[in-house]
Amino acid sequence: MTAAMVRAEGVRKHFGGLEVLKGIDLTVERGQVCCLLGPSGSGKSTFLRCINHLEKVDGGRLTVDGELVGYRQHGTKLHELREREVAQRRRDIGMVFQRFNLFPHMTALQNVMEAPVKVGAVPRNEAHERAQQLLAQVGLADRGHHYPAELSGGQQQRVAIARALAMQPKLMLFDEPTSALDPELVGDVLDVMRQLAADGMTMVVVTHEIGFAREVGDTAVFMDDGVVVEAGDPRRVLVDPEQDRTRAFLSKVL
Ligand SMILES: Nc1ncnc2c1ncn2[C@@H]1O[C@H](COP(=O)(O)OP(=O)(O)OP(=O)(O)O)[C@@H](O)[C@H]1O
Ligand SMILES: [Mg+2]
Repeated sequence: MTAAMVRAEGVRKHFGGLEVLKGIDLTVERGQVCCLLGPSGSGKSTFLRCINHLEKVDGGRLTVDGELVGYRQHGTKLHELREREVAQRRRDIGMVFQRFNLFPHMTALQNVMEAPVKVGAVPRNEAHERAQQLLAQVGLADRGHHYPAELSGGQQQRVAIARALAMQPKLMLFDEPTSALDPELVGDVLDVMRQLAADGMTMVVVTHEIGFAREVGDTAVFMDDGVVVEAGDPRRVLVDPEQDRTRAFLSKVL
């Protein structure tokens, strides 16, 4: 029970000849919020995708909740997980993308109920009740019967968060959840994430919302060109960074 929720040690990933992650070291403790920042192409999304095994790590060691991602350990031997086992573990991790990726032909409620009913074998009435609660939690109690096209971007993203929460994940990954939104819609989404953090959810958040990272983040990690340049207390890293690269980046996004 003492294992970190996410621990990366020297994690490497390449696509063909392009090395995208060049040895990432990073730890996210239970209940903590880790904010990942860095320029476009620095490997942030790739790293998030490695955490839930949408990408396979090429080197180093990556564990979630004490278990090696993609492997099962038997004594000293490692066995690669089958697709079914990968899917099973992935259910414990909620992911929210920049583009909400809701099912367009389903209402908000149906979107939130889908995985528990289809994958989790939760009875429909139970899933319905839980989906109602989750929509209320993200401030959309009265929007359950709307289709994605009838919702604003911010509302769609909050449905996406509710949908990710429906499988009761132990870890939530957010990949620039507010960067596709009109500025006036960002606040409501960040509020939902802030509340989730306050409720104790472990979160890894790729974001350029410096205010959010400073206020809600337990750690800020600045990545550039596939390495962690600087990590630590967001109130230091994002206010008075030690590295020139971090400083240069912040001066552009602030
Ligand atoms: N499936 C893939 N095949 C080949 N190259 C890829 C693939 N996915 C990502 N890359 C490359 O890996 C590098 C890192 O991409 P990644 O999406 O992780 O960056 P990022 O930090 O999330 O950037 P952004 O801020 O633009 O989202 C980029 O050069 C990208 O082109
Ligand atoms: Mg990205």
